[in-house]
Amino acid sequence: MTKETVETPKEIRQAMKGDLHRPIYHFLPPRNWMNDPNGLFYWGGRYHLFYQFNPYHPLWGNIHWGHVSSVDLVHWEDHPLALIPEKGSGDENGCWSGCLVDDRGVPTAVYTGFVDPVNTPVLLARSQDPLLIRWHKSQHNPVIGKAPQGVNATDFRDPYVWYGDGKWILVIGAGLQNGDCAVLLYDSPDLIDWQYQGPLYQEKSLDSVTMWECPNFFKLEDKYVLLVSLFPDIQGVYYYVGSFDGRRFMPQIQGYYEPGPIFYAPQVRQFQDGKPILFGWLLEGRSKTAIKSSGWAGVQSLPRELALDDNGYLISKPLDALATLREACVIKKDIGLQPGERERVPVRGRYLEIVAQVSCEAGVFVLAVLASPDGAEVTYIQCDFDAKTFTLDTSRSSQSDQVTGAKQTVNMPEPTSKAIKIHAFIDGSVIEVWIDDRVVLSGRAYPTMAESDGLYLFSKAAHAKLDLLRVWQMAAIWPTDFLRPGIEVNRE
Ligand code: FRU
Repeated sequence: MTKETVETPKEIRQAMKGDLHRPIYHFLPPRNWMNDPNGLFYWGGRYHLFYQFNPYHPLWGNIHWGHVSSVDLVHWEDHPLALIPEKGSGDENGCWSGCLVDDRGVPTAVYTGFVDPVNTPVLLARSQDPLLIRWHKSQHNPVIGKAPQGVNATDFRDPYVWYGDGKWILVIGAGLQNGDCAVLLYDSPDLIDWQYQGPLYQEKSLDSVTMWECPNFFKLEDKYVLLVSLFPDIQGVYYYVGSFDGRRFMPQIQGYYEPGPIFYAPQVRQFQDGKPILFGWLLEGRSKTAIKSSGWAGVQSLPRELALDDNGYLISKPLDALATLREACVIKKDIGLQPGERERVPVRGRYLEIVAQVSCEAGVFVLAVLASPDGAEVTYIQCDFDAKTFTLDTSRSSQSDQVTGAKQTVNMPEPTSKAIKIHAFIDGSVIEVWIDDRVVLSGRAYPTMAESDGLYLFSKAAHAKLDLLRVWQMAAIWPTDFLRPGIEVNRE
């Protein structure tokens, strides 16, 4: 008879470390499927992050709430499953997205239940222990049974809740029967008895978008920010900045926070210092077959700090505390590049942070990462000073036929200057790049060759100068005995 052994999260993580596509400093569960971040919360001196999780399979389905906590939003510790679907209840086919609030000292999850055929009531669960390990579903469930009139019954989910002016306020994503997308507003004295107050905001969204998922609505300086995820087909995350009279939101500025197809369904939370911190789901860019053989799918973005710039646009930057992950550093200064010239940076690596200060008169400056010496596999971070655009191009990042690369382009931040900062994080298959701590693009790259870990600079047409380049090897966010794959580090 064989004895069944239960592996710990740490053992599973250790066993996975030969997988060169697996990130080491972005959060992901030990194995299987993850999507949206949920229930960001600060409690008893720790930050808690819950996440949409299929604990049994690396593809979406049978969604539970996974749970980790952290003292710095960077290093995470695994906890047992928090919310588990229960037969015969409003979440029997899944515990979908939602948030956490402090209900007079009791951490309370307000989340979407899923019953098939599609019914998505709003449910409550409470935890009374300091680490938020044990959860009890409320006897008052469902607290909102179904969508109000005029809303497609299948397009109603993802409550986001806060307390203000003596009552609880809840907004929830929706698709309307007239074709508009909407965020609906409710209020309640006690989180249990909810009154529908009509749409916070609605409009015909972009082209094929039929519903807004995962709304986030919060005050920032003297404005209000609404973030929505464009459904279906992971069409990215859109934002509005405007005013709020307690019932209706009036947008003044709008745009993509980040386009698809990799970044989606973020959650924002303002912690003690009031700064909005965001995590988002980074999807895979590879086939289901490749996902199944790797045993995992889905990564959380790095924690990002949101702000409004002088013109009122929503901008973000990576959390400063990520600097604690920096290890060995290579610095290069004043590298001039003639048109067509290519320069190899003497650093190799798949787990890097790169900060490049670039001056460029015109034309295109390119930072190539995860590059093989023969150029067969390469990922481009490209700044076009003529078109004033920034592109993350993973279309040549892998020779595998199981991988779908993407070429994503956004406008460089206004006003475009001749000197910019490229801030890139490379983590196995994950790439997040900021320009000037303002606009950001996320991508996935799955090079097949061991030597696809080089770094190059080149300029097309323009006289470019790299004023300063700093590249750090990055440490893992798991306990210190967890090493980078393939690298034996001697920690004295
Ligand atoms: C967004 C989403 C949410 C839903 C959850 C289900 O990715 O579709 O709207 O609550 O994922 O996992």
